[in-house]
Amino acid sequence: MDPQAFELPSMPGRPKSAAEVRAMRRSMPFDLLIEALRAFQARPTDICVATFPKSGTTWAQQIVHGLRTRGSMDFEEIGVVMPFMEMAPMMGVDVNAPQVAEPRGFKTHLVWEQVPKGMRYIYVVRDPGDVLVSFYHFMNGSLFEKDTIGMESFAHDLYIPGDMPWGSYWGHILSWWPKIGAEDVLALCFEDMKSDLEGTVRRIAKFMGIDADEELVAIATRQASFEFMSRFPTKFDEHIGQRAMEKAQGVPPGEPMSKVRTGRTGNRLRELSEGTRETLDAIWRREIEPAIGMPSYEHLRAHIASLHAGR
Ligand code: A3P
Repeated sequence: MDPQAFELPSMPGRPKSAAEVRAMRRSMPFDLLIEALRAFQARPTDICVATFPKSGTTWAQQIVHGLRTRGSMDFEEIGVVMPFMEMAPMMGVDVNAPQVAEPRGFKTHLVWEQVPKGMRYIYVVRDPGDVLVSFYHFMNGSLFEKDTIGMESFAHDLYIPGDMPWGSYWGHILSWWPKIGAEDVLALCFEDMKSDLEGTVRRIAKFMGIDADEELVAIATRQASFEFMSRFPTKFDEHIGQRAMEKAQGVPPGEPMSKVRTGRTGNRLRELSEGTRETLDAIWRREIEPAIGMPSYEHLRAHIASLHAGR
């Protein structure tokens, strides 16, 4: 793999408007990064946490890693022990390399059509309004210059059109929908992980083929709690990837992007206008309902819960 191929265009500074974020997105070599994944050799035991960003990826990664290591926290950042598949070449990470534990674990935000096949996938979804709010805070000060874009502009100029890294929330769901319910996919909802963390840990262990004893379930559950993960912000802030990107783009170090922030459901009700929430509901009815017959996110959530009952 030629690392030169992944050089990023240098930038005069962080974007300060939605138009500049869009321009930055278009200059990113995503096609080359996805192309590079053709060299990945999947194993049928590999576990891939697949999500649209801000849906609970890091949380699911921590559960997987806790289960496969009996709770090792001996990593600088979780992405070092469970690589971010499509960003790996840019960070100089070899996705084919042996990992610190078995089964191998990965993270991706790619749509199903782009994901390497032949693994087992933990697909986590979350309410679209809560994802929006989480994404805004994550990018404010890291992807774009702090406070130069407001929440509502972020919603209407970037998130809703899907004109930002990893594209459209709704497109991501539509792409993964045919796989929800398949034997090699465990679908989870962020809200249900929150209401039943121990049950989620047991479900993930079973999916990974780990015969977890009660002590292991207790360790993995405790170490995936919001309180526990909040105590280790630098282990969950993607600082290695962030610094590599900043260096490549020639921009100064930005704010830390902790993946453990509020851990709450319902932030959309606190931070989005009623009009924006109605727009999100309308997009669901327009884009998702005709395609998969689910009139709202809550219907999808109930559907996923019914799949668990059958397993
Ligand atoms: P908020 O920003 O709404 O707080 P991702 O890892 O996909 O980027 O998702 C990040 C979101 O998951 C953040 O949401 C973060 O707080 C939440 N999260 C991470 N670990 C969590 C945990 N142990 N319990 C509850 N939420 C968690």
